[in-house]
Amino acid sequence: MVNGMKPLQVGLLGAGTVGGGVFTVLQRNQLEIERRAGRQIQISMVADINTERAQEIVQGRAQIVNDAYQIINNPEIDVVIELIGGYGIAKELVLAAIATGKHVVTANKALIAVHGNEIFAAAKKQGVIVAFEAAVAGGIPIIKALREGLTANRIEWIVGIINGTTNFILSEMRDKGSSFDEVLKEAQCLGYAEADPTFDIEGIDAAHKASIMSAIAFGVPVQFDKAHIEGITKLEPIDIQYAEQLGYRIKLLGITKRTSHGIELRVHPTLIPAKRLIASVEGAMNAVQVQGDAVGTTLYYGKGAGSEATASAVIADLVDIIRYDSVEQNKRVPYLAFQEDKVMNTVVMPIGEITTSYYLRLKVSDETGVLAKITKILADNIISIDALLQKEADAGESQTDLVILTHQTQEKFMIQAISDIELLPTVKGSVTKIRLEELS
Ligand code: NDP
Ligand code: HSE
Repeated sequence: MVNGMKPLQVGLLGAGTVGGGVFTVLQRNQLEIERRAGRQIQISMVADINTERAQEIVQGRAQIVNDAYQIINNPEIDVVIELIGGYGIAKELVLAAIATGKHVVTANKALIAVHGNEIFAAAKKQGVIVAFEAAVAGGIPIIKALREGLTANRIEWIVGIINGTTNFILSEMRDKGSSFDEVLKEAQCLGYAEADPTFDIEGIDAAHKASIMSAIAFGVPVQFDKAHIEGITKLEPIDIQYAEQLGYRIKLLGITKRTSHGIELRVHPTLIPAKRLIASVEGAMNAVQVQGDAVGTTLYYGKGAGSEATASAVIADLVDIIRYDSVEQNKRVPYLAFQEDKVMNTVVMPIGEITTSYYLRLKVSDETGVLAKITKILADNIISIDALLQKEADAGESQTDLVILTHQTQEKFMIQAISDIELLPTVKGSVTKIRLEELS
């Protein structure tokens, strides 16, 4: 007992990578956490379908069950931590825990991005807290920063390297020339990748996280279904090399911006200037850059995945629950930062309406007048060129690569220009287009 209060009774659902980390960190730092929270935290029950593996983590210090409902239906449990993942059983269990009046902590970004609005509504009705710091950028306290630390600001934009697996893949491919499949396997072994790694490599995981940040930054519902998503599977090593030559790095970015026409919400490989701090974020590390009107640019960096790093965020949520448990619902920090009746249905712009700069790579015949025709098409579509790189044709080759960087334009103009360029007989095959953000 601390301050005469009985320990917070926690039930853990899923003793995998993150669940194991939560158990370990809570045990190791128990006294330090208690000094801050003013109350002991005790994981008294753990549910996992693999009870033997759970036992290896728990080692007799909590009751292990294979049916999560034994935890949900136990009136002694105050908080349920959901670390199973996915939208299926996890959603069912979270809603059931809320219905029994338990607070919930989750690291499940897929669940919050797809069903967050429904879950928050259910939680509000029951007067319970749903905390999800670990759902975005693992150990980086970005939800707290956006929701509380930056509360004075009108947030303009957020860009983030928010998927460790893909950042790890891109870094290893660039630095060591490793193959995509080889590095993906390594990321899976290190516990970074999702149960279904297509979520990582196709940008879905990053879009889950970007949708959550967008909602918190702009006071809109979570709108994952409106996000534009492209992963890194179509990225070619040659583009990583050309980008380097031009002073840029390619990163899979989650981007959300407030514009006068609505909100941009997109995930795709992006060229960013190599000189920007965020460009040097390598390996499985994450970073989120936030532009606020008062504070200017702030940058948050750290481990976005991994057992103990993610556990750090999960445990911070448990401490918040201890602090806010006795606070009236309408005086707690709102789930999505803004008061519920002030959440606005601002439109998420279709990709054709967004404004950005572009990197284009074309294979062209090495003959007179090619460049003039291409620049004319760009000019006709009101697209201005920022830089050009033409590789000398290899000996005996009649074709060569042309790389163009453009100034900002609307995506629909770029789509039109590319389709016109691809009709030119001197342009071979399709044009590679990668968006570019100066982040200035
Ligand atoms: P794991 O797959 O390592 O752990 C999930 C655990 O839950 C497994 O032991 C699994 O058993 C178990 N499980 C599956 N179904 C049930 C069920 N019905 N009842 C009880 N247990 C069940 O996942 P992670 O720990 O990596 O991820 C957990 C969550 O955290 C996910 O939402 C993930 O997206 C998120 N997250 C993960 C990060 C990371 O670095 N790994 C970082 C940030 C967030 P079995 O393996 O036998 O299926
Ligand atoms: N699969 C995720 C990643 C885990 O690679 O970033 C952390 O959310």
